[in-house]
Amino acid sequence: MAAMTTSRKPWEHAKSGGSEHDELAARFVESLSYDTRLYKHDIVGSIAHARMLCHVKLITEEDLAAIEKGLSEIQDEIEAAGVTGWGGWQIELEDVHMCIEAALIEKIGEPGKKLHTGRSRNDQVATDLVRWLHVDAYTAIWQGIKGTQNAMLDLCEQQGDIVMPSYTHLQRAQPVVLGGELIAWVTALGHCEERLMELATFHGSPLGSGAIAGSSLPLDRLYVYNTMWRGEDEPPCEDLSDEMVFCLTGSSIEATASRDRALDFVYALSMTAMWLSRWAEQWIIYMTSEFGFLTIGDAYTTGSSMMPQKRNPDMLELIRGRCGNVYGHLMALLTICKGLTVGYNRDLQEDKRPKRSYVSSCWGGWG
Ligand code: ARG
Repeated sequence: MAAMTTSRKPWEHAKSGGSEHDELAARFVESLSYDTRLYKHDIVGSIAHARMLCHVKLITEEDLAAIEKGLSEIQDEIEAAGVTGWGGWQIELEDVHMCIEAALIEKIGEPGKKLHTGRSRNDQVATDLVRWLHVDAYTAIWQGIKGTQNAMLDLCEQQGDIVMPSYTHLQRAQPVVLGGELIAWVTALGHCEERLMELATFHGSPLGSGAIAGSSLPLDRLYVYNTMWRGEDEPPCEDLSDEMVFCLTGSSIEATASRDRALDFVYALSMTAMWLSRWAEQWIIYMTSEFGFLTIGDAYTTGSSMMPQKRNPDMLELIRGRCGNVYGHLMALLTICKGLTVGYNRDLQEDKRPKRSYVSSCWGGWG
């Protein structure tokens, strides 16, 4: 990441002429150290916004062509350098949005300055969050859930007929077959998947909300939505039908103030982690010598040098334990949003800090 420089922030003008700068303050407010991963979504949002600006004739075709070319080059550069290696990140510019915009202006000059017409970082960051959830987060979790379900279904096929006791109060209850118990986990994970699918049916494009109360410019929010969310072969959303409810956010004030989508997501993750912790605990019990129902391959257990007879179910214990982290993220985000006035407050920036770990706590390795 590039070192701090003393150049002025692009939006600093008037009062101090941008001459006042405090390094500690700059480091305190930045989110660049944890939001660079949003770059792809930020660029997609910027291209959709620029196409709309051209559609309503606020910028020319030439401006649009320059902006699109510049943004696509920036994306290529970031991808070639690896996200953290790109030279355009400057902490004094605070975040991913400002860095990409500054790099664009540096690259293409005047047309780059027009990209910010009618938008604010407040609707930009809300848009990036929605896209991150839809494009990265849901997909990663779906894949994790499906993979777990499929592994359980394979086990069902191989050994599902084995007769075993079922338990209530952890006391022997009725006899069941192993397949019956496995299907209980598969079903619970299916509900976890449904919870995520319900979230994924709503896009709600916040662009056009501006800083809080929109803009007096003739922005076409539906055009932005269609550009960003509708594939080339899909029909565009055209009029004020019910579908609009799913396309556009209903209030610019709420759209920039809300992190509800992130909260719903972390709640859905918490439920998933809760079910995984129950399954982990069940198998930890089943592999004790007292129960002796199952053994876990050496690759997935650890041993003890002093007690060679032992195999420890560390992976299952970590799945059980990590649930605590996911619950912690839910409580953190609820508390970040608690008591905030309606409109953007900088507190909301903190939503991103544990964002990667929402997902990686639940399905380690992603992120
Ligand atoms: N980095 C900020 C965030 O993540 C972007 C929004 C800043 N908006 C503002 N008015 N300062 O929330």
